[in-house]
Amino acid sequence: MTSVAILGSTGSIGTQTLDVIRRNPEEFSVEVLAAGSSADLVIEQIAEFKPSLVVMADAAAAQKIKTEFDTLQVYHGKEALEKAATQSDVIVNAIVGFAGLPVTLAALNAGKRLALANKESLIAGGPIVQKARESKNAQIIPVDSEHCALHQCLGGDTTNADEPFTTVKKLLLTASGGPFRKWTKTELNQATLEDALNHPTWSMGQKITIDSSTLMNKGLEVIEAHELFGIGYDQIDVIVHPQSVIHSMVEFVDSSVIAQLSMPDMRLPISYALRYPTRGEAPWGEINWDTMRRLDFEKPNEEAFPCLGLAYEAGKIGETAPAWLNAANEIAVEAFLKRVIKWVEIPEIIQMTLNEFDGVLAETEHDIYAADRKARVIATAVMEKL
Ligand SMILES: NC(=O)c1ccc[n+]([C@@H]2O[C@H](COP(=O)([O-])OP(=O)(O)OC[C@H]3O[C@@H](n4cnc5c(N)ncnc54)[C@H](OP(=O)(O)O)[C@@H]3O)[C@@H](O)[C@H]2O)c1
Repeated sequence: MTSVAILGSTGSIGTQTLDVIRRNPEEFSVEVLAAGSSADLVIEQIAEFKPSLVVMADAAAAQKIKTEFDTLQVYHGKEALEKAATQSDVIVNAIVGFAGLPVTLAALNAGKRLALANKESLIAGGPIVQKARESKNAQIIPVDSEHCALHQCLGGDTTNADEPFTTVKKLLLTASGGPFRKWTKTELNQATLEDALNHPTWSMGQKITIDSSTLMNKGLEVIEAHELFGIGYDQIDVIVHPQSVIHSMVEFVDSSVIAQLSMPDMRLPISYALRYPTRGEAPWGEINWDTMRRLDFEKPNEEAFPCLGLAYEAGKIGETAPAWLNAANEIAVEAFLKRVIKWVEIPEIIQMTLNEFDGVLAETEHDIYAADRKARVIATAVMEKL
């Protein structure tokens, strides 16, 4: 029996993780649940999965849960979240945004297997996460479907790989292209929140859905692939593949290409990360070859979607630059979700924030938190000017 901590249990990845566990009760038990403020859904999850520890970011939400389950350990705040990230065999980080960084660091420092959906922590905290990853038994198994695909194509765990991948020519990250793939510049200028939330192939949380519409999600994934697999940025390409059936590919030096295919369903990579290195029978993602007619590919339009290039730029600078990119993006996306800015202003805010980048090195955890705070202040100021 594998015990699992699900941090971000009320979100899209969190609830799909619980679905994988619900269908495999003989294999997995839920030891920890954590979320932000959605107390009512957590109360339902506690009744069904009976964890021994619950952590909420919000104090009032924790109090509400404690009133329902008075003998259960219920805590709130960052320290409690960090402790919760060390309490099970597998830690699923399904929190959205930079708030997931303490979980990633605590799980790795405690030598746990981290099933990582929260890409923002790896992107913002890159150099510090790499140090934590050196802890004995620490392991990252990616949940992001593209990186789960790369993990499979590369032949498994790469967390403590001594050898760089000398036989890899390129990582080919596939992208659906999002809802605006065929939109002209004039149309993009009029894009609404509803348009941006209407993703063609995946049903996900709001933040990542907006990131997919700007191609920032793919940009963040380029940095994620670099951090996970240690491959240089000039060896990571993005290819638009609208069907989202090929989840990514690896091209080797002899020009052989290995791809991973399945229908778009996040429960497949979640189940892979929970079960690795074994596989279990799973009803998700099966391809019907009788109806599968075509797989298309095209180059991303970097002029219409500047976020992709901005991510490459910040990734190549390294140190705290990706933390700045991530913070500026989170500020801009939040403002777009609140209808404060236009969709086309998201990359403008990020670009103008990165223009102010101060070049601070990422030597300690403190450097990452300070970079995040500073970039948020600058991004907010930039937005107000706009
Ligand atoms: N959704 C996908 O298909 C998908 C695919 C690949 C990667 N990812 C990545 O997975 C992560 C989660 O995405 P999602 O789509 O599942 O997001 P989501 O649906 O918005 O869910 C976010 C989760 O994080 C919790 N949360 C927010 N702030 C928190 C805090 N300060 N402390 C503790 N918990 C907090 C939320 O709790 P409340 O409900 O209480 O606010 C919720 O459980 C993101 O990094 C995303 O990029 C997602």
